[in-house]
Amino acid sequence: MAELQKQQAAEETLDLAPLDEILEKYAGRKGVIIPILQETQAVFGYLPRQALEHISRKMHIPLSDLYGVATFYAQFYLTRRGKHIIRCCDGTACHVRGASKIIDTLQSHLGIKPGETTPDYEYTLEVVYCLGSCGLSPVAVVDETVYGHLTPQKMMEILQGL
Ligand code: FES
Repeated sequence: MAELQKQQAAEETLDLAPLDEILEKYAGRKGVIIPILQETQAVFGYLPRQALEHISRKMHIPLSDLYGVATFYAQFYLTRRGKHIIRCCDGTACHVRGASKIIDTLQSHLGIKPGETTPDYEYTLEVVYCLGSCGLSPVAVVDETVYGHLTPQKMMEILQGL
């Protein structure tokens, strides 16, 4: 609950000027929901409710349509995410090579479960099921960088180096 209040407070101070620039670009065009949402997310890191309401008003797109698209595609996030995104693989190849130990280490060090973000919005932890680099298992992607042959200790060193 406290986290939701914090997020709402942060949204109250949302600067919508960059969003207006995006919307001007797409004014009068059709089939623009996905690019607008992509660019909006690139600005804010996620899709704040206030931004979606603003898009709905300015572009005359029902809010339900925006939420429909935003919840359909896995690329969109409706809650604020961490500055660092840690995607740890627990697919078969990674699992048999000890991925769960790495995930456990991350959970206890960060104090969050997969799918959660630390209260200071520094880290988001995600568990995925194959990153397409099974030869490097166990694997994690941290802020777009792929790290292979991980151990809990190596993972901690990566975190400390962020
Ligand atoms: S199972 Fe982890 S990269 Fe494929």
